[in-house]
Amino acid sequence: MRSILVRGGQPLTGEVRVEGAKNSALKLIAAALMAPGASRIRNVPDIADVSLMAEVVAGLGARVTREDHSIVVDASHVDRVEAPYEMVSRMRASTAVLGPLLARFGEARVAMPGGCAIGSRSIDMHIAGLEQLGAAITVEHGVIVARAERLTGAAVTLEFPSVGATENLLMAAVLAEGETVIDNAAREPEISDLAAFLRAMGADIAGEGTPEIRVRGVSELHAADDHAVVGDRIEAGTFLAAGALCGGPVTVTGFDPHHLEIVLAKMRAAGVSVEQGERSVTVSVSGRLAPVDVQTLPFPGFPTDMQAQFMTMMALADGTSVVTENVFENRFQFAGELVRMGADVHIEGHHALVRGVHAL
Ligand code: UD1
Repeated sequence: MRSILVRGGQPLTGEVRVEGAKNSALKLIAAALMAPGASRIRNVPDIADVSLMAEVVAGLGARVTREDHSIVVDASHVDRVEAPYEMVSRMRASTAVLGPLLARFGEARVAMPGGCAIGSRSIDMHIAGLEQLGAAITVEHGVIVARAERLTGAAVTLEFPSVGATENLLMAAVLAEGETVIDNAAREPEISDLAAFLRAMGADIAGEGTPEIRVRGVSELHAADDHAVVGDRIEAGTFLAAGALCGGPVTVTGFDPHHLEIVLAKMRAAGVSVEQGERSVTVSVSGRLAPVDVQTLPFPGFPTDMQAQFMTMMALADGTSVVTENVFENRFQFAGELVRMGADVHIEGHHALVRGVHAL
C-alpha cells in the first residue's frame, strides 16, 4: 500500500478489536531462537515488521510457518548467528536476536543500527549490560560481535529503563550461570509478556513489571508450546484517540485497560467520557476537548508511542497545552504535517506548545 486516501468529515463509531502487540511479538519471535524445537505464538499481528522478524530468524536457519494469526518458530536447526545490516537497517528491533544468540550459541553478530528517524537510539546499554554478564564485545566493520562461552549472572543497573536493553539482558540472563539482577529495568507490559514466554520455555524469572527483575539462570530451555501475545495497548490507544477526535462512541476490545491507565486519565482530564470494562474501553465526546499537558516517560508513564495521537487531540482542544517528549529525540516530525493541516503547534526543544484550533 503506497498511500491511504481519507475522506474526512464522517463520524467514527463502532467497535474494533486490537491485535497482539507488535512490540511484544517481535521479541517473542527472537526469544524462540533460544531453544531447539517448535515454539507456537498466537495473536500475532499481521504486519510488515512481523514478516521482517520472521525473515531475520529464518535467515539464521529457523523454520518459520505462519497461519492466520499464529506463527511457529522451529529453532532446532539454527546454524548462523548473524543479523545482517540489510535487516537491522530495515528494522531496529532485529537487534533483539543479540541476547538469545549469544546465550544459546556463545556468539552473536548483529549489525550496528544506523541512524533512525526518531532519535539516536543507540544500543550502548545493551552492550554494557551484556559485558557485565561476561560477554566480550567488539565492533568489527560496523558489526557488533559478542562472544561468551557461558554468560555469568551479575547485578546490572541500567542507566535508563530502556525497553530493548531490558529485553536483551533478560533473554541473555535466562541461560547464564547463576543469578542476574536487572535494576532500573523497564516495566512495560511487553516485558512481562516476554518474561511469561521465557517462563513457558523453562526460565526462572521473578519481578518482571517492577524495576528489579531477578533471573536464576538455567542450563537449557525448551520450546514454548502455546503463548498468546499481549493485546496492543498502543493500537488500542490509537483507536481511542480517533474516537475522541471524531466524537465516537468507539469501543476497543482485546487489550488490558490497566496498560493504558495514564492515557485514559489524560483523556478523562480532556473531557472524554471513558467507560472501562475488563478487556475493553468505550470513549465518546460531546463538545470540544479541554487542553491537557502530557509528558512522555517510561511505563507506567505516558507512552511516547501515544504522543503524536494525543497531540493531534490537543490540536483541536479549547485552549493551549504543552506536550513534552522525554524518551526520544526528534519525535515531533509529524507536527509539521499537522501544521500544514491548520494546527497551531510551536516546537521548542523537547516541548511542543499546542494552541487548539476549531478544525483541521
Ligand atoms: C521500544 C519500542 C518503541 C517505544 C520504546 C519506548 C519496540 C520494537 N519498540 O523501543 O515503540 O517507543 O520502546 O517505549 O519494542 N537508549 C540509549 N541506549 C540504549 C538503549 C536506548 O541511549 O542502549 C535510549 C534511546 O535512544 C531512547 C531511549 O533510550 O532515547 C528509549 O529507548 P528504548 O526504551 O530502548 O526503546 P526501544 O526498545 O528502542
